[in-house]
Amino acid sequence: MLKLEQVSKTYGNKSEKAVDNISFQVYPGEIFGFVGPNGAGKTTTIKMIVSLLAPNSGKIIINGIDNQKNILEAKKQFSYVPDNPELFEKIKGIEYLKFMADVYEVPVAERQQLIEKYLAVFEIKEAVNDPIGSYSHGMKQKLALVGALIHDPQLFVLDEPMVGLDPKASFELKKIMREHCDRGRSVFFSTHVLDVAEKICDRIAIIKKGKIIEVGTMAEIREKAGSQESLENIFLELTE
Ligand SMILES: Nc1ncnc2c1ncn2[C@@H]1O[C@H](COP(=O)(O)OP(=O)(O)O)[C@@H](O)[C@H]1O
Ligand SMILES: [Mg+2]
Repeated sequence: MLKLEQVSKTYGNKSEKAVDNISFQVYPGEIFGFVGPNGAGKTTTIKMIVSLLAPNSGKIIINGIDNQKNILEAKKQFSYVPDNPELFEKIKGIEYLKFMADVYEVPVAERQQLIEKYLAVFEIKEAVNDPIGSYSHGMKQKLALVGALIHDPQLFVLDEPMVGLDPKASFELKKIMREHCDRGRSVFFSTHVLDVAEKICDRIAIIKKGKIIEVGTMAEIREKAGSQESLENIFLELTE
């Protein structure tokens, strides 16, 4: 579903690489967590996956499509919610959702139903007729999630999705992520909240200073570390 091959990125003329020769794969049906401390290179990696940044070297294949060779086709395979969604402030929530549905060519009959469903799930139904500029940070994030969900992508890419969401919305999002993968699709998300990754991910990759230091299931990572402890302890040891 998603394959990174020896991907590197350096910003400007910095001497250190933000992302340093990373490779991993996300398979169909999988919730994959990208875990690491602040500044590790998670957002940089995600921006390369979604074609907001070009890698200096390496290859990114999304559902079989090279995202540097065929950017538009690659973009149709996923939807993306950034860590800090910047939405058009002057338009109404509902206008944004219709715009997203148009961009991704969601049939009118289908979109209505999906919009209703997700607005109810995230409890922002009352707000959709107000301008986005009047929304709180959490509401903007929920609206961005709804906009990303209505075209039912093969791959769902989320940067720190739980930050800023209330417990109910966070619970619902985790449920949606699971359902998405149960239909053979995939979720790739970053987090520095380790408990979340430990509870919901099928596999994780741990990134530190731009390098991937572990990839696998929790059980595999525990076994390698020779420990039954929580991911948090292992993570602290690995990133020390
Ligand atoms: N636009 C940028 N210009 C220069 N350096 C950047 C930029 N964005 C991120 N960095 C640097 O790249 C490294 C990785 O950052 P980032 O990918 O945001 O990490 P994370 O998302 O894991 O917190 C950090 O050292 C950060 O300071
Ligand atoms: Mg980040």
